[in-house]
Amino acid sequence: MIGKLNHVAIAVPDLDSATAIYRDTLGARVSEPVPLPDHGVTTVFVELPNTKIELLEPLGEDSPIARFLERSPQGGIHHLCYEVADIALARDRLLREGLRILGDGKPRIGAHGKPVIFLHPKDMTGTLIELEQT
Ligand code: CO
Repeated sequence: MIGKLNHVAIAVPDLDSATAIYRDTLGARVSEPVPLPDHGVTTVFVELPNTKIELLEPLGEDSPIARFLERSPQGGIHHLCYEVADIALARDRLLREGLRILGDGKPRIGAHGKPVIFLHPKDMTGTLIELEQT
């Protein structure tokens, strides 16, 4: 069911310095910061030949990234995103298997303008998993 690794998301306390590490030290192509208020993050996309890295900085009062950074103040891997062909089919299959979808289970428009869902880390080997329809 799952296809390519779409991106690895890394929560960071300081987006500017994290961007500088990837752009200047590692020589990667990086985007301008993109605020996503619905998701409580500002993100920078790092383009790699085979996948992307998303740097996530908290945005707003109730950012899920802020809570993550309380536990990991230096930042860390926040989630992995796998591609699926049909998000509704994927969700229904996972619900039938007894997995938990975060939120109300309805796909939301994610950072790339495509529908996404998030799977509970307790069902996914301790890792927050995003599925994105491509
Ligand atoms: Co993501």
